[in-house]
Amino acid sequence: MNFVGSHILSVSQFDRPAIERVFEVADQLEPYAKRQRVTRVLEGAILGSMFFEPSTRTRVSFGCAFNLLGGEVRETTEMKSTSIAKGESFFDTARVLSGYSDVIVMRHEIEGSVAEFASASRVPVLNGGDGANEHPSQALLDLYTIRKEVAAHGKNIDNLRIALIGDLKYGRAVHSLCRLLSLYNNIEFILISPPELALPAHYIDGMRAAGHRVIESSELQSSIGKADILYVTRTQEERFPSPEEASKYKGLFRLNQSIYTEYCEPNTVIMHPLPRDSRGNANELDNDLNENPNLAIFRQTDNGVTIRMALFALILDVVNDVDKYARDVNWYTDKRFK
Ligand code: CP
Repeated sequence: MNFVGSHILSVSQFDRPAIERVFEVADQLEPYAKRQRVTRVLEGAILGSMFFEPSTRTRVSFGCAFNLLGGEVRETTEMKSTSIAKGESFFDTARVLSGYSDVIVMRHEIEGSVAEFASASRVPVLNGGDGANEHPSQALLDLYTIRKEVAAHGKNIDNLRIALIGDLKYGRAVHSLCRLLSLYNNIEFILISPPELALPAHYIDGMRAAGHRVIESSELQSSIGKADILYVTRTQEERFPSPEEASKYKGLFRLNQSIYTEYCEPNTVIMHPLPRDSRGNANELDNDLNENPNLAIFRQTDNGVTIRMALFALILDVVNDVDKYARDVNWYTDKRFK
């Protein structure tokens, strides 16, 4: 895969060498992501950040990643604040905004919309999530996190047993992660969801065709005992026809410390793409797990900055120049990443 000048729209663009290259660059950039070093390698460059759906992690971490490489960020966060609300086409919007930016990240509720925008853009476009379709940078940061977490227990991604729990129908992070994991060897996928929110068949067919074992279940406790990773997801309320319809599925699978202690192996890693829905009728990942050392959710969010820095450095072809424009930090840094 040639990263330079490329759009990142789908995980289908990646093979294992390309994933390894992203992880290698992420490892190289970790001191910058952790504020131990500063680089100005992208000084003068502009990221156009266009999030037409709510976002905390993806929007802010893409912005931080660009800032940490020395670039500047211009944010647009609502469709109604753009001239799309006055009838301007995606084509015209993409042509205009790509004249103001060196790279663009975009999130939109419609599947395929980011690819449509990218086809008219004059600069690389990264998919920050398009409807229920894909979330490529989330899958890369999840896989990077999985690799680090299981390495701490002497394992690697090959032969992984992962339980994916919750709304597997609409969860784009799950869709992209399943496709990336399918590039590895001998994965056991344990899919735990209500039948109505099962992973779409074409994903399962692809996983089986790649030689992986897929088990489907609608029961949490009896299905998680042998998993290395529990990947919990929120009911994606915004994709349902109505909030009432979504509420039928909230709270069906709740992982908490007592279930974890009774049913899981001691070092089972707990992940979630976040946001978790902490409201009483949902609460799929209980706050009583917050002190569990195997809860990796905030290591995932930290890794999101590192992975997104790596994508920018590769796409804008500055990997070999990062250190040339670097210095030590000159402000107080705490121990948050230690
Ligand atoms: N994981 C994720 O996409 O989070 P945000 O919706 O907050 O960006």
